[in-house]
Amino acid sequence: MEPVIFNNNVLRDGHQSLAATRMTTEQMLPVCEDLDAIGFGALETWGGATIDAGLRFLHEFPFDRLDALKKACPKTPHMMLLRGQNIVQYSHFADEVVEAFVATSARHGMDIFRIFDALNDTRNMRCAIEAAKKAGAQAHGTICYTKSPVHTMVKFVEMGIELEKMGCDAIVIKDMAGLIPPYRAHEIVEGLKRRVNIPVWVHTHETAGLGAATYLSAIEAGADAIDLGVVPFANGTGQPDTMRMLALLEGHPRCPSFSDECRERLGRIRERLEGVYEELKSFTSIRNEVVDSDALAYQVPGGMLSNFRTQLAEQKMDDKFEDVFREIPVVREALGWIPLVTPTSQIVGVQAMLNVKFGRWKNFSPQAIDIALGYYGRTPAPVDPEFQKLAAKISGKDPITCRPADDPGTKRATMAQLREKLREAGLPDDDEHCVIHAMFPEQLAKYYAMKNKPAENTTVPNVAAPAAATAQTASAPAPAAAKAGQSHAAPWPGVADARAAAVDRKVAYRISIEGRAVDAVVEEL
Ligand code: CO
Repeated sequence: MEPVIFNNNVLRDGHQSLAATRMTTEQMLPVCEDLDAIGFGALETWGGATIDAGLRFLHEFPFDRLDALKKACPKTPHMMLLRGQNIVQYSHFADEVVEAFVATSARHGMDIFRIFDALNDTRNMRCAIEAAKKAGAQAHGTICYTKSPVHTMVKFVEMGIELEKMGCDAIVIKDMAGLIPPYRAHEIVEGLKRRVNIPVWVHTHETAGLGAATYLSAIEAGADAIDLGVVPFANGTGQPDTMRMLALLEGHPRCPSFSDECRERLGRIRERLEGVYEELKSFTSIRNEVVDSDALAYQVPGGMLSNFRTQLAEQKMDDKFEDVFREIPVVREALGWIPLVTPTSQIVGVQAMLNVKFGRWKNFSPQAIDIALGYYGRTPAPVDPEFQKLAAKISGKDPITCRPADDPGTKRATMAQLREKLREAGLPDDDEHCVIHAMFPEQLAKYYAMKNKPAENTTVPNVAAPAAATAQTASAPAPAAAKAGQSHAAPWPGVADARAAAVDRKVAYRISIEGRAVDAVVEEL
């Protein structure tokens, strides 16, 4: 039996899960030589929230980080998390922008693109998968794990078969919330191994205390690789620690062999990262470090739990915590049992909060409306038809059934337009800048504004100030939050017509998704 492959995710998911994605390239470099020498299957070094957070909070140009890490870890394949048509943002981009992002990242050395869609809609993954293959990189088709009446083992396996047909080099089960129990993982891995001929990798978190046991069970079922961290950027809401997993597998026929030298290197990494963890302590939280079975009770990601505790306190709804979390399955069911992962976890959470605050289905977030109308893709089960009708009436938009990126009614920037915009702004207009500008135009402009006059600039121009405990912490209601046309909140043109009783008072919420502020405005009735 082949030993299981250990990947290491400490430079991406490790600090995203435990330190609000705030590790700088400079803090990473001292551990790179050891990380690269151990012989991990892959190092997750980029993608997910690191591109946004790095640019926004750490003032790093994303491709500079990739270059630096690639140079510092030349031997081990590099891996990144990519949100399909959303790239690493929250809305859909034109195919040519997705293609340019993937090709450019591959040119900078990215080896493995781990591609997922928040709704598990494979149509939103196809373009990125094909682009990765075309660039000579690996495309890993990723299945978001969630629990619902429609998410059966058979459905997950069907999705795996489809991803293999689409040309993926491996299937990844992505359990972002750490909710997959060991025997469920066993069942799904076994089902996939029977039906697909490409490797099956498993990604989970230790949030609810199931992670390491789930890996063991998945390994028994034939999983080819698992993702791990290194303490202190491991366990809790992060991946299980590498040393711990090694100990857990001792005597197992598939235990990988780690020489004394490798163990020493792991020890050295840990020691250095202890220092980094201390430096980042304003972004760490005991809530993320401990195993919390609340995540199981509510079936939501750990980050969402801590986020919502804060958000509800700010809305003076502390006493409604239970009610809001009981409302989450109601919202999920109405929205076709969507998985809870960026950005759907926030969207469902906000809608649950609105339902509790104003009464069920009295107010809607624009994002929930878009999900109901198909603008995020095909939901796992049909959206409640009544809810869809209401969403159409309120927003004045028609439901769509095509792949969202093909919707002619939504304008999406082309590469030529992006290049033109950059030229107008006097910024470099290469593909690197085009794709970053497409996703984070304000942040890119601020990055250059700071870079060009570093001496005068003493304030950190974050749109959302770094939150104390976690990247997902909500800030207080922002009174002037949504100006029409400026944000997603493009707000509610139809609401007043739909509701005769609408009054003038508006409540603006500023939520943040992985550190990125998103404004939502609702009318208080
Ligand atoms: Co993860």
